[in-house]
Amino acid sequence: MPGGEAERPLHVPVMADEVVELLAPVSGGVYLDCNLGLGGHAELILERSGPDGVLVGLDWDAEALAMAKKKLSRFGRRAIAVRSNFARAAAVLDGLGLGPVDGVLLDLGLSSLQLAANRGFSFSDSESLDMRMDDRAGESARDLVNRCSEAELADIIYNYGEERQARRIAAAIVAERKAGEIRSGKELADIVYRAVPRRFHPGRIHVATRTFQALRIAVNRELDNLAELLASLPRIMAGGARVCVISFHSLEDRLVKRCFSDRSLFRPLTKKPLRAREEECSQNPRSRSARLRAATYCGLPL
Ligand SMILES: C[S@@+](CC[C@H](N)C(=O)[O-])C[C@H]1O[C@@H](n2cnc3c(N)ncnc32)[C@H](O)[C@@H]1O
Repeated sequence: MPGGEAERPLHVPVMADEVVELLAPVSGGVYLDCNLGLGGHAELILERSGPDGVLVGLDWDAEALAMAKKKLSRFGRRAIAVRSNFARAAAVLDGLGLGPVDGVLLDLGLSSLQLAANRGFSFSDSESLDMRMDDRAGESARDLVNRCSEAELADIIYNYGEERQARRIAAAIVAERKAGEIRSGKELADIVYRAVPRRFHPGRIHVATRTFQALRIAVNRELDNLAELLASLPRIMAGGARVCVISFHSLEDRLVKRCFSDRSLFRPLTKKPLRAREEECSQNPRSRSARLRAATYCGLPL
């Protein structure tokens, strides 16, 4: 590197020490990483479960998957990367003839690569308003904001963004699109900025954060996919196996909390969700909103 600077990784895995400690991977175990991303957590799990542990990593983003495969190639056949929605994890494991597994990891949301990649996830993106993590999937955020009625938009922004200004924002989107299609993240962020009176602008985050979160959740059906995966855990997990979930907003965390509260199936390993340490937060701002819950599966094998 010029100037001798170390290359910065494209995505730094969040709460990595805590995940490895809670999953406690061992040689011979089979592990499922539902959000392979760039393979950061996967690499650590494979290192810890050497020489014989196997990791099945899922991601529906072709670009992320290709990069993860490259990163994990040194583990040979111990690392299996599959392009799939994690909601289909049980079917993927069946297809591979693997399972039940000894550990499951979910690290929800977006990777830093996706956020930076002109795919419409960022407020400053002047090229795209796509927001699909899987480019084979249906409607983009651009389709949604230009097609939905004002009431539908207000519902999406309120329900998935928990945004109190949802009606104002929806009305502004519908008024603005009359002059021409809304085409980029930047255009949308500017509309939200102008729609919300200054006294309601949040201090710490961009005023459009909740609106973007809401559209991303709707486009990618994020809560439905998470609910499906959680419901399938008893089919996927061996008795005594551990599951760790890192979520980034309260809607996800609520689903996980409810799932782990079924004491006939799960014994929580974390009383409250763990948060990233201050040192990690200052080095990796993504970790600030991370909440980690873990549990042991104690149901009967199905
Ligand atoms: C936060 S990143 C994971 C980063 C990874 N743990 C690492 O250390 O590199 C989340 C990843 O999950 C993927 N993803 C999100 N929802 C998914 C779903 N329903 N099915 C499959 N992959 C999904 C995204 O495409 C993204 O690459």
